[in-house]
Amino acid sequence: MKAIILEGPDKPLVLKEVPTPAPKAGEVLVQLKASSLNRRDWWITQGKYANISYPAILGTDGAGIVTEVGEGVDHDWVGKEVVLYPGYNWGNSEEYQANEFTAIGLPPYNGTFAEYITAPVEHLQFKPLHLSFEQTASLPVAALTAYRALFVKARIKKGDTVLVTGVGGGAGTFALQFAVAMGCRVFVTSGSGEKIERARHLGAAAGVNYKAQDWAEQLKQLSGGFDIIIDSAMGDGFAKFLDVIKPGGRIVFFGGTAGGNLPELNGRKIFWRHISILGTMMGSPADFGAMLAFVNEHKLEPVVDEVFPLADAEIAIRRMDHSPQFGKLVLRHS
Ligand SMILES: NC(=O)c1ccc[n+]([C@@H]2O[C@H](COP(=O)([O-])OP(=O)(O)OC[C@H]3O[C@@H](n4cnc5c(N)ncnc54)[C@H](OP(=O)(O)O)[C@@H]3O)[C@@H](O)[C@H]2O)c1
Repeated sequence: MKAIILEGPDKPLVLKEVPTPAPKAGEVLVQLKASSLNRRDWWITQGKYANISYPAILGTDGAGIVTEVGEGVDHDWVGKEVVLYPGYNWGNSEEYQANEFTAIGLPPYNGTFAEYITAPVEHLQFKPLHLSFEQTASLPVAALTAYRALFVKARIKKGDTVLVTGVGGGAGTFALQFAVAMGCRVFVTSGSGEKIERARHLGAAAGVNYKAQDWAEQLKQLSGGFDIIIDSAMGDGFAKFLDVIKPGGRIVFFGGTAGGNLPELNGRKIFWRHISILGTMMGSPADFGAMLAFVNEHKLEPVVDEVFPLADAEIAIRRMDHSPQFGKLVLRHS
């Protein structure tokens, strides 16, 4: 089969011929029709991710058709259109993942930028009927992470006022769509006025540019304060969240696009106003099922910025150098 291989840090992604995997007992073979890129893939190509080893077939998100089953798997799975849970070994707790948890797309678990992949049958969910393979392949990491952040951690409810920072990203666009579907007033930040406009078309009430000196003051004035803030940027701006969150509010974060760490925070503002600052990481298989049920129920359509042929994975990932995209970058496999 053909697969996109990363042979070392700062090396280009190249299309190569590699052996097609065979499903072991309890596994299926999936012919991948589409996959999508995450910031994680970009960090890995920069050599900035834990436990990288080479060569690696990257890609954590994928959707396709089951073509073969291993021993013990019901033959009825053959021909089914599926989307894959993007991790292995979540573990027994719904509260947090086990130490052994890992996302696919790094050895020992080959990724989805390939014509075929094997997966344990319990990692499969059906492709939503209203979505194409390209749209479905946009879901796994970004939608799962946004779903857990909003529903499990922030306990979102109708009528909440929600801020989504860096809305142009994959996780950001899903957080916006989910919160709008829940009947919340949603505000956004972005580095681009055009992306704020696109967010408004998806239902955002308003947005401000995070590069503006007074972004927090602008947001406070527009919104009156937030019940929930969903952030994947960290950086110095994080300290300002304490000025725009309402008493009892929840700040949930899962990334550091703007900077590797949190700034000094005013602890008094946190305890006096009963603010929760909550970390989250992707999500459990149960979260994945719940996210897909929500997407199906609300007939949500992921925002796909651009679709590239699998062979052009290097061109697609270079788009992430400056993040002009709004939503997801997708690879079409056939
Ligand atoms: N822990 C986990 O399980 C998990 C899962 C998914 C993602 N993440 C992390 O979440 C982040 C987003 O991932 P992604 O795949 O959605 O990435 P992405 O599609 O590449 O989006 C990144 C976005 O970050 C935004 N951004 C850049 N600088 C910012 C700043 N100073 N303030 C606010 N936003 C800023 C940009 O928003 P605009 O384009 O609107 O300017 C950009 O679109 C990454 O850091 C990723 O590692 C973590």
